[in-house]
Amino acid sequence: MPHVLAKLSAHLLRNNVDFFNIASRANSSYWGCVPMGPPDVILGISEAYKRDTDPKKVNLGVGAYRDDAGKPHILPSVRKAEEIIFNACMNHEYAPISGEAAYCNAVAKLAFGADSPALKNKSNCTVQSLSGTGALRLGLEFVTKHFGGKKELWLPTPTWGNHPQICNMISLPHKKYRYYDPKTHGFDLNGACEDICKMPQGAIILLHACAHNPTGVDPKPDEWKQLSDVIKERKVLPFFDMAYQGFATGSVDNDAFAVRLFEKEGHLMILAQSFAKNMGLYGERVGALTFLCGDQETAAKMMSQVKIMVRTIYSNPAINGSRIVSTILNNPELYKQWLCDVKEMADRIITMRKKLREGIEGRGNKQKWNHITDQIGMFCYTGLKPDQVERLTKEFHIYLTKDGRISTPHITPFSILGTETPKSMYVTAVQYHILLQRTKRTQYL
Ligand SMILES: Cc1ncc(COP(=O)(O)O)c(C=O)c1O
Repeated sequence: MPHVLAKLSAHLLRNNVDFFNIASRANSSYWGCVPMGPPDVILGISEAYKRDTDPKKVNLGVGAYRDDAGKPHILPSVRKAEEIIFNACMNHEYAPISGEAAYCNAVAKLAFGADSPALKNKSNCTVQSLSGTGALRLGLEFVTKHFGGKKELWLPTPTWGNHPQICNMISLPHKKYRYYDPKTHGFDLNGACEDICKMPQGAIILLHACAHNPTGVDPKPDEWKQLSDVIKERKVLPFFDMAYQGFATGSVDNDAFAVRLFEKEGHLMILAQSFAKNMGLYGERVGALTFLCGDQETAAKMMSQVKIMVRTIYSNPAINGSRIVSTILNNPELYKQWLCDVKEMADRIITMRKKLREGIEGRGNKQKWNHITDQIGMFCYTGLKPDQVERLTKEFHIYLTKDGRISTPHITPFSILGTETPKSMYVTAVQYHILLQRTKRTQYL
């Protein structure tokens, strides 16, 4: 062996191969131009939280469901589906490029309903995607390549931080329309309609189908109808992002109201679905992308192009998560169980909202705190300013996003009721902070 090495190094020296220079050249000239990127806003919070050694730290930043003990939750229906899959001794062959038909049909039915005209006449093009983010990316990339309208995406203000990032990454121009009114803590219907009327014809509007992230503010049914009318009039294409079906009201059908209304009103659309939250399959990365194409022939052409795109990015989708989803949605008994599991999670969120509101109002504050319980879904948009959020993090080790968004499932009964758990006083500190910010006092605790 030493003999071989000696020969090799003699050869390299003879040919002037200098390892040190190879390494430094690679570092400086190939990648030296790469600037340090900022940490991801939300995942960066979790990283900072992990680094914090204070035992009383609390992370209210991440949008993942937690149970009463603050632990990740595995849905009973998911456990059962996993058992069924395990016992069936399935193989690990490639899935079709677009995903298994049983999966795609079931998820489209979940979104559009059993009576959907598009599903009946097969004018939809539905493919499995890498969770909701992958569906958004694939859908928007498809837009940049094939869309016959105006390649411009309009995003609500505010919106999930990854929406503009995806657009930037694929050079798709994006603009903002009014959505949240900080004065009322509610939906700005007039502002949204005015802005839609000014959108160029044939542009694309992104709509959160339910449980808007980060505000927790959704349009009411009659407001959805008005939005549908102006969007139709303006000939704008709706792109629904449905990452929380079931999480807003506890009913997957109620939460699909907007998507189904828009279909009934004759809109073509794009839909991104995710099973991260409503099945707790965060790490499985399972979702779907659907185009309602108008007719079967167009749907077939669209499918051929989506498949080409998928083939060049990840070739075929992953099978484990989609098997779980498909097993649940295609088994009537498991489906019933899952509906109960979703309702249980949504109910816990609603209870935590009530408790948070009571926790604040119960401390003698005369102001209205209805927005905490009016908002729905995972997040509570507190109205805290970035400097206040920073102070909460620095002084109290409470982690939340800079815009004051709290992930409500991370609040536990112990923290609200103020029992002797170490975390209790810390979430109470959030309550106090909100309270005193509202009453314009500068001191708290
Ligand atoms: C509004 C919105 N869309 C899409 C997603 C995508 O999530 P995932 O890629 O985990 O399915 C999220 C997740 O937080 C979200 O909040």
